[in-house]
Amino acid sequence: MLPNLDKLTSGISDIYRSGIVTNMGPVHQKLESELSRLLGGKEFVIYNNGTSALLGALHAMELPKGSEVITTPFSFAATSHVISAMGLTPVFADIDPQFMTLDPLEVVKKITPKTSAILAVHVYGFACDLIGLQKVAEENDLRLLYDAAHAFGTTVGGRAIAEFGDASVFSFHATKLFNSIEGGAVSINTDDGGRKLRHYRNFGIVDEKTVDGVGLNGKMSEFHALFGLLNLELFREEMTGRRRIREIYEYELSGVEGIEICDYAEKVSPSYQYFVIRIRNARELVYTELKSINVFARRYFYPLISNFKCYQDLPSARNLPNAQRAADEVLCLPFYGGLTEDDARKIAKFIRVTTQNVGKRIPS
Ligand SMILES: Cc1ncc(COP(=O)(O)O)c(C=O)c1O
Repeated sequence: MLPNLDKLTSGISDIYRSGIVTNMGPVHQKLESELSRLLGGKEFVIYNNGTSALLGALHAMELPKGSEVITTPFSFAATSHVISAMGLTPVFADIDPQFMTLDPLEVVKKITPKTSAILAVHVYGFACDLIGLQKVAEENDLRLLYDAAHAFGTTVGGRAIAEFGDASVFSFHATKLFNSIEGGAVSINTDDGGRKLRHYRNFGIVDEKTVDGVGLNGKMSEFHALFGLLNLELFREEMTGRRRIREIYEYELSGVEGIEICDYAEKVSPSYQYFVIRIRNARELVYTELKSINVFARRYFYPLISNFKCYQDLPSARNLPNAQRAADEVLCLPFYGGLTEDDARKIAKFIRVTTQNVGKRIPS
């Protein structure tokens, strides 16, 4: 999603006039307060990308070094990498077979005396089992963090998703529904969480003479903030465009043998970030055949994080059957407001025909 170029140019002129290009300037502050109102949570702190925001959120939890964080193998690499980067150990637990989010019952099986937190992911904006995970966290005195990179603007039973758990982390990367080219944020609900996040974002600097701890450069520039502010004006219209594409895909693909359209739970508002299907037996074929006609669907997430070289030897990396099945079956279809209805129909029909032909070739 690209903002209106004239508005962008005019905003850049204002930035030039102000002479302030970074370090939490006026555009940054405006974006932070507007997003805070939209996304909710007790305090809201913008970062320069979702990965540094995840680092900030983990830092703010003050987890003991070397402790274990239970997480999902069915996510983007960043989710586990930040755990490792903070000197913590990722422990993988299996996912719910329907919504593909961390299964609270599987989390319980992975708790040890060294467990300090849970980092769950609202995959595709489907929303985790918020009540189930909260219960596990409370009963075992664990911090509960959500990677909400896919859940921009998602509400559950009318409540902003960031109201749940200790912290939720958003990504505003260019591939996301709402973007500031690169960007991210943490919505935090713990006491004093906002202060910790702000210091960590700026090298741990408190004032001219005081650095109160380790920190990084997690600041978003004024130019990125401007891009985000202007895109904030557009994302609802983009959602409307995607709703239309979703309806076409649903109409063309529902009832097709071997294809499952992944859907939201009733209480969850659709985020329109992804359109995901699961294809039994033929995902690889459909993926490559689409590529051969220049349609770039994504096997998102594949492979599982637990199969990466850096994690595959962890004891928890084995025996994750629901996650493995999801990784082998999911396909995210092209999904953006500018996609024409005609193209969406053609893509869906192509998938239908390809899948049906496979069905004929496979002996039952
Ligand atoms: C689930 C998930 N977590 C974290 C990230 C990292 O965010 P960023 O690219 O903004 O660093 C992404 C995506 O890019 C993601 O999809």
